[in-house]
Formats: sequence, structure tokens, C-alpha cells
Amino acid sequence: MITLTVDLGDRSYPVVVGAGARHRLADLVPADVGRAAVVTQAGIGWSVDPGVDHEVFTIGDGEGAKTLATVERLTGAFAEWGLTRRDLVVAVGGGVVTDVAGFAAAVYHRGVRFVSVATSLLAQVDAAIGGKTGVNIAQGKNLVGAFWQPQGVVCDTDTLATLPPREWRSGAGEVAKYEFLRHLDPAGDAGVPLGELPLGERVAACVRIKAAVVAADEREGGTRALLNYGHTLAHALEAAGDHDVRHGEAVAVGLVYAAEVAHRLGRIDAARVDEHRRLVAAHDLPVAVPPPLDPDRILTLVGRDKKAVEGLTMVLDGPRGVELVTGIDEPVLRDALHAVVGDGPPPQGGSR
Ligand code: GLY
Repeated sequence: MITLTVDLGDRSYPVVVGAGARHRLADLVPADVGRAAVVTQAGIGWSVDPGVDHEVFTIGDGEGAKTLATVERLTGAFAEWGLTRRDLVVAVGGGVVTDVAGFAAAVYHRGVRFVSVATSLLAQVDAAIGGKTGVNIAQGKNLVGAFWQPQGVVCDTDTLATLPPREWRSGAGEVAKYEFLRHLDPAGDAGVPLGELPLGERVAACVRIKAAVVAADEREGGTRALLNYGHTLAHALEAAGDHDVRHGEAVAVGLVYAAEVAHRLGRIDAARVDEHRRLVAAHDLPVAVPPPLDPDRILTLVGRDKKAVEGLTMVLDGPRGVELVTGIDEPVLRDALHAVVGDGPPPQGGSR
């Protein structure tokens, strides 16, 4: 078992990673907690024991459940059960559950404590770490939320064994992203590619990078935006909906696209672009989308990316590693798109 810390002063918390880590949940429950509301989805299938009196509350499946209506229903059910400010919310599931339950915890009684038991690869390496909680509204994803740090996070790698391949690839894209952010973890060993590490060590290495970034910039004033590496094109592909891509697959193509843009700006050489393709492919992820790709539509969506602050801004690799680059010209963005349109479907299957 590997225990890491997200270092936020008096709001620091542990992240326990490994096979069977869910059995450590009770160790993360503060001693003064009276009861726990366990929030999960019907299909998750992992029961947990927080070591105190608890009740299970289920929310719907998929992004469709990430709404204010779900939070209203959930907090209403908490109130009917009599959850108090002394108590605890325990989220058991993937990113939808940790985002919704975390946000419900942030707003119920103006904030109650919560712990996440992350059961998907995406939640373990990204969504459950760092305190971003929230829901979608009609105008956009994650537009309503709060920074609300958990008391602890459990990443039980046993729960990953049953993930469907595409669910796995949803998280693998984020793991591939961390291949290029390893310098952000001062304690990290960048020698062995993450894809070659045993699963527990791989998840732990990703958590360590994310924890270091969050510790340095909890509220995304700067460095935390680097976690969006590969996400500019990914968000556009997801919003366009023309390709059947899961989030991680879109991020994978987005990483290669970012490398192609960086190369055209003279920031990295062709060998580094190849390295992007090689490292992404090593996670059984696509490095291109099948044709057709409508460049005008994609570029319009890229321009609307909510992370754009000053002209077109992207996270790009370069001599100092990845950093935010502003004012990128449209012809560069358009030309680089050609490099990520392949002629076959994304690979199927997935590695563990
Ligand atoms: N998922 C990006 C972040 O937590 O900042």
C-alpha cells in the first residue's frame, strides 16, 4: 500500500493507493464523525465500511446525473436522514460521483467533511484529487462548483480490474498526460515511463504529480492549468461529437496535437513529437482521429475553450517543459490539425 499526502497545510490529506485500499477507509474517517452518508451509483458495486453508522444514497449514472437537481435531491435526503455538520459524506465511484458528492458536501450545512473512494482510473489519477467539485448546467460542463478538499482519498486498484476497456481508456489518457508532467513532481523519478510501471505504482506516480501541482496552486492561479495539457483539442473533439471518443481518447489525440503545435512554433523538435506519439500509443490510446475532421468547426470550438484567457492559449511543451503559451495564430492551429487525422478507427482493447 502506498500512502501519499496532498500538502495543503492544515487541510492536508492522505491518498491511499493499492490493491484492497478500500479496506483502509475507516482509517481516514476523523475520530469525531458520528455517521456517514455513502453516495454511490447502482452500477458501482463496491460496498465500503466507514467504521461508523452509515446509510447508502444512490445517484443516477453518467454525466446526466451531474446536475443541481441531483445535488438538491441528495442534500434533501441527507437532511431527512439527519446528517449533521459533525458527520461525513463518503463518495464511492468514478468522477461523476466524487464531483457530485463532493459538491453536495461543500454546500450541505455550508460544508461537511467528505472522503472519496475512487473506483475508476480517471477518478483515481485526476477527478478525486485536488478538491475540484461541481456539476454541469445547460450552459456548460462544471460551471457550478466549489473547491472543497476531502479528508482523504482511497484509490483501490482492485476496483480497476472490472472497468470496461473504454472506461479504462478514459483514465489512461490522463495517465498519458502525466508522462509529460513528471518534472512537476520534485520527488519523482522520471526514468521509467508510467505505462511500464506496475498498476499501483503507476496510479501513485500520477497522484504524486497531481498532489504536487495542487499543493503549489490549489485555486488554479497558474501551474494547475498545466493539468489541462492535451485538453484544448480534447474538449473541442468532445464538444463536436463527430467522433466516438471517450475523454481519455480525446486527451490522447490532444497531446499529440499540442506537440504538433509546439513543433510548428519551434518549441520542440520532431523527435519530441515522435516521443509524444510513442508514449501515448504505449497506453493503447489513439494518436489520431479517423477522417473526416471539419477544421472550421473544430477551430471554432478550440477558440471557445474555457481555459483560453488571452487570444488562443494552450499548454505547450518547450525547452522549459510544458507551460501556458498565449497568442497562438490560427494558421498554426489549422495546419497542426492535419497531423492528427488518421485513416483508421482508434485501437480497441486496453492494457491494465
Ligand atoms: N482536472 C484538472 C484539475 O484538477 O485541475
